[in-house]
Amino acid sequence: MRIERELAGLRAATGAWRAAGQRIGLVPTMGALHDGHLALVAEARRQADVVIASIFVNPLQFAPTEDLDRYPRDEAGDLAKLQAAGCDLAFLPTPAVMYPPGDVCVIDPGAGPGSPAEGWEGTARPGHFRGVATVCCKLFMMAQADVAVFGEKDWQQLQVVRRMVADLLLPVTIQGLPTVREADGLAMSSRNRRLSEGERGQAAALPGLLQRCGAALAAGQPVGPALAEGQAALQAAGFVPDYLALVEPATLRPWPAGAAGAARLLVAARLGEIRLLDNIPVLVPPAPG
Ligand code: PAF
Repeated sequence: MRIERELAGLRAATGAWRAAGQRIGLVPTMGALHDGHLALVAEARRQADVVIASIFVNPLQFAPTEDLDRYPRDEAGDLAKLQAAGCDLAFLPTPAVMYPPGDVCVIDPGAGPGSPAEGWEGTARPGHFRGVATVCCKLFMMAQADVAVFGEKDWQQLQVVRRMVADLLLPVTIQGLPTVREADGLAMSSRNRRLSEGERGQAAALPGLLQRCGAALAAGQPVGPALAEGQAALQAAGFVPDYLALVEPATLRPWPAGAAGAARLLVAARLGEIRLLDNIPVLVPPAPG
């Protein structure tokens, strides 16, 4: 596996691949890789001839109060995992490569009801999606990617990236992959390793509570009461819920009252210092009568 830290090295590799007519798959990551990331690499392998994985803890998507310094880092372990997963090139840019000193341009995914960046994580983490959109746009261009693979665990992020690609007419296909879960159902996340042993035990309840709320909605329980019961169940299980929301899958708008069809149920809940995210699809049935 080739390792590149500078743009020139990356461009030399991608230029040669493109000249040979090879399709390039990209898996953008922030490192601390787990099996969910490796599933993204495997999907990129299916979708492309060569696979690039990037590892970059993107300062632009962290607020000053957030855990940038405490974000888990394990470069040697990550590289070994990528190599074993059959990745062709690992790209590990420094912040100066990604953000040339004095740069001023960013990608703003917008605000207001038309933007999937509005609400939920957009509210909880102001500026977060601006950082995500900016770094993803740069990575797509730097890697000259034909396809980029993202996990559905960060559902809102996936929709923001899809919308950016559509609005900016970027020549890259965005492929989402269902969330990879631990044996007990907890969605895999690099942040899970910061849970204490007790918190890790408690966290296992989250997917079940989400499924229960989703099943109530799919059985026709009205949205308001189903979400209120879900919130109460989260609190009873020791979580501090940030939001539990039923939304339109692509726009992230709150699900319209009385509507039927494919929705997404999102949750963000805290255990101690760690914020856990999860989401599932829900098919909302037509209202009776
Ligand atoms: O999901 C992540 O790990 C990050 O938000 C991403 C997509 C790599 C951008 O920094």
